[in-house]
Amino acid sequence: MTSSSESSNRFPDRFVWGAATSAYQVEGSPFADGALPSFWHRFSHTPGLTHDGDTGDVACDQYRLIGDDVRIMREIGLQSYRFSIAWGRVIPDGTGAVNAAGIAHYDRVVDLLLENDIAPNVTLYHWDLPTALDDRGGWLNRDSAEWFADYASVMYRALGDRVPMWATLNEPWVVVDAGYLYGIHAPGHRNIFEAPIAAHNLMRAHGAAVQAYRAEASRSIGLVVNIEPKYPVSDSPADLAATARADAYMNRQFLDAALNGSYPDELAEVFGEAWPRHSAQDMKLIHQPVDWIGINYYTRSVTKNDPAEFPLRAGRVRQTQHVHTEMDWEVYPPGLTDTLVWFRDRYGDIPVYVTENGSAFADPSAANGEGIVDDPERVAYLRAHINAVRNAISAGVDVRGYYAWSLLDNFEWSAGYAKRFGIIAVDFLTQERTLKSSAREYAEIIRTHGAALLR
Ligand code: FCB
Repeated sequence: MTSSSESSNRFPDRFVWGAATSAYQVEGSPFADGALPSFWHRFSHTPGLTHDGDTGDVACDQYRLIGDDVRIMREIGLQSYRFSIAWGRVIPDGTGAVNAAGIAHYDRVVDLLLENDIAPNVTLYHWDLPTALDDRGGWLNRDSAEWFADYASVMYRALGDRVPMWATLNEPWVVVDAGYLYGIHAPGHRNIFEAPIAAHNLMRAHGAAVQAYRAEASRSIGLVVNIEPKYPVSDSPADLAATARADAYMNRQFLDAALNGSYPDELAEVFGEAWPRHSAQDMKLIHQPVDWIGINYYTRSVTKNDPAEFPLRAGRVRQTQHVHTEMDWEVYPPGLTDTLVWFRDRYGDIPVYVTENGSAFADPSAANGEGIVDDPERVAYLRAHINAVRNAISAGVDVRGYYAWSLLDNFEWSAGYAKRFGIIAVDFLTQERTLKSSAREYAEIIRTHGAALLR
């Protein structure tokens, strides 16, 4: 018999358990079957820009091994797989001719998943813009909204009847901050004038793709953002103002635009003359009703005023009392509860999914006697964060599902293969997959619909 505290703490019956990846991080085969690569291929093939010169040329070879990977998903009991489509497989030049072989690949992925009772959750843009479009200015070009909506429509027509969940963009903040402001991701620009333009065009692209969805299909569509809650290090007016700037830039910029049709006031102060004027028409395009929001949560930031930090004048205060992952990200599970509650309080009762959550740790390279790679830190991270989701549900937040990042160890962008986030270990020489104890633990959590957390 379940106690009353347990039953009031249960995950809703239809709560979905999934895991996530993205195309460039796992697929490999950038030129297969008529595909043309993205600006991440260009970036990773430029000397000095990624760890050890690592590229996504092979990655987890999922383009070819998708059948094996779906079998492993089934073994774990996953109910949904969040993956992304490589734009350049479907429309190699970014605009114009559609490549039937590219569509056929994703057709097969979706069918394989459905045959195994795994719901596909498809992200249209997880950072891999076709190089031909980067040559035309990429996200700095206002036409990018139309390019993206056209590509999205092709996908809706091909898969719209079978895919229950679509997302337009993954983490526009990272595209802008890492790609256009600090130059550590593709396309490698470092330009304060470009950052707000790229951000705005990404959001216009989001709006145009949602609009196109309403014309072509009718399951559900959302936007995926990464939220890092900002906690002021002190109550001083300077620290509070710095915290508000950091929060506006990272957390509210994209959600306010999509859900309220406006940008936070702090951004004009952060960017000064680099902050553009936005027309009411653009804001209307961005402000489309969405069916759900995906939140990616990894860590928090304790924030202080720091005039030396460009351009936010806000810095992070490292919390040495807590464990940090290999990314040097503080492990702070209550931040996930706070984030979900904050989201509901600020934006209302929109269905929300935790579309990514996970941790990089230096796992042992070999399996133990039972054929499992032991990853106790990741097990602890996973359990604590799923518990944090449960706490948000108890507080009345409409959280509909959780996706572990990541199904597989994969190409971690500029960090290459050095940082492992998978619940499944990948040997990048042989492509052998080995379950980690976190995958075992997650399978148990799924099987018991969360009750395994109480043990
Ligand atoms: C997120 C990205 C994902 C992965 C994780 C660790 O920002 O969406 O691709 O790199 O971080």
